[in-house]
Amino acid sequence: MKVAVSYLKSQKSKEETLSLLDKSLADFIHVDLMDGVFVSENNLNLEETISLLKDRQKPLDIHLMVKEPIKIVSQLSFLKPAYITIHVETSNVEECLSAIKKHQVRCGLAINPETKIETIYPYLEFIDQILVMSVHPGKGGQTFISDTVEKLKSLSTLKKEKNLSFLISVDGGINKETISLVKDYVDMVVSGSFVCMHDEYNAQINLLK
Ligand code: DX5
Ligand code: ZN
Repeated sequence: MKVAVSYLKSQKSKEETLSLLDKSLADFIHVDLMDGVFVSENNLNLEETISLLKDRQKPLDIHLMVKEPIKIVSQLSFLKPAYITIHVETSNVEECLSAIKKHQVRCGLAINPETKIETIYPYLEFIDQILVMSVHPGKGGQTFISDTVEKLKSLSTLKKEKNLSFLISVDGGINKETISLVKDYVDMVVSGSFVCMHDEYNAQINLLK
């Protein structure tokens, strides 16, 4: 199982957190971007984000909690991320997924806790990642919503039955207890505060792995 680490909530500065993560056992750096519209928080400073991330060694897993992701896909593609994930609750989903692929980046779809899993069915053959939100998007350090487990189970069964290739990832409230609820159904977990609010990143990542 892969571990992507989000630096959204950290006890250190972004710069320091990112350089530690770059040298850590994390498989991906998970980048949370928010526009103050799709979610009430706003950290969508693209210039700052690009300069913080541009020379990193780790592959980037970008999660866009923004209403109009299509407007920033091209700029973000300069970072050559491994994935750009948009929310299925936004408009023009298909157009945006195609735009991501056109920039030779793998595309993902994120789904909020209250959104029915069927909403992503039309895109299953097209996408490279499904990011199942196990908290309401916007903040790090929230509690895992346990209903998420059913969603992950259905997706994992569907993936096997239809022999599909998307990666199943879960995002929010992952720690050494909640990992045991999801580990059988996911290919990747996103973890933020469990790693970055501690001094020993690798020890925390190893607990998840
Ligand atoms: C929530 C973000 C998550 C978050 C995870 O809006 O999408 O990626 O940073 O942080 P933890 O692991 O602290 O819930
Ligand atoms: Zn995220």
